[in-house]
Amino acid sequence: MGLLSVMRFFALPLLVHLVALLVAGANVPTIVNLRIEGANHTIYEAPIITRGHNVTTQSAGNIHCDGTNHNENPTPGPTCTSALADAARLAGFTFDGTPFGEFDDIFIDRIGDTANTDTEFWGILLNFFFTPVGGCQQEVKAFDHVLWAFNAFSVAHFLKLDGPQLLHRGEHATFTVVDGLNNTNVPVAGASLGVGGLTDAAGRVTLAFETRGLHSLKATRADSLRSNRLDVLVV
Ligand SMILES: *[C@@H]1O[C@H](CO)[C@@H](O)[C@H](O)[C@H]1NC(C)=O
Ligand SMILES: *[C@@H]1O[C@H](CO)[C@@H](O)[C@H](O)[C@H]1NC(C)=O
Ligand SMILES: *[C@@H]1O[C@H](CO)[C@@H](O)[C@H](O)[C@H]1NC(C)=O
Repeated sequence: MGLLSVMRFFALPLLVHLVALLVAGANVPTIVNLRIEGANHTIYEAPIITRGHNVTTQSAGNIHCDGTNHNENPTPGPTCTSALADAARLAGFTFDGTPFGEFDDIFIDRIGDTANTDTEFWGILLNFFFTPVGGCQQEVKAFDHVLWAFNAFSVAHFLKLDGPQLLHRGEHATFTVVDGLNNTNVPVAGASLGVGGLTDAAGRVTLAFETRGLHSLKATRADSLRSNRLDVLVV
């Protein structure tokens, strides 16, 4: 076999598969970054591989959850709720939802220990934008950021934390907290990283770590959704 035939036989199918992985609407196992922020703690924060499939909840039974719900997409694909269901199975937490009647979807009532109340509800943000449709209608594509946020409709800010991930012991470093909603990235003052002081008007706080090892930081503010986790290795 010449080099060209080798490429035709192996490289092309591989390329086609790679492209399929990157386009929305193809129902192939797709990797997304999933974060689930419960009332008092983070329920899940890691990549997950998902594809469109049926989802079963105690209160809604078995329903399709592949983006074709309510004819939202012409072809099946991975969705925000299929990602939730796959993470639940992998990480060993449960969730529940009731039929979202007219939308042919599942209205999520509870994830892990965090259930909706009369005034607080689970919401979904895709790449920091509220999804315009329910979680079985909203398809996702590779490397999307899927965020299930409790009390999503009442929080002041959706915190996003950034900063250095490798520091020397005692070295001063600046961390930044912004509001990720709609990718506006507006600085958030008064956020805590659990160590040191609060962020200033520019969303910045300077910290130094006296102990070596891995420090996992999350920004919090009482009225806001806690941030992503930033792992800082101190050497
Ligand atoms: C998936 O759910 C639909 C209802 O939404 C049902 O008609 C179908 O039989 C289910 N498929 C499987 C494989 O369970
Ligand atoms: C979260 O913490 C508050 C205050 O301690 C408590 O009232 C509430 O029940 C907790 N929520 C969950 C889901 O554990
Ligand atoms: C975010 O964007 C949506 C439209 O995608 C808009 O309706 C909403 O007002 C925006 N909110 C903020 C705080 O920018």
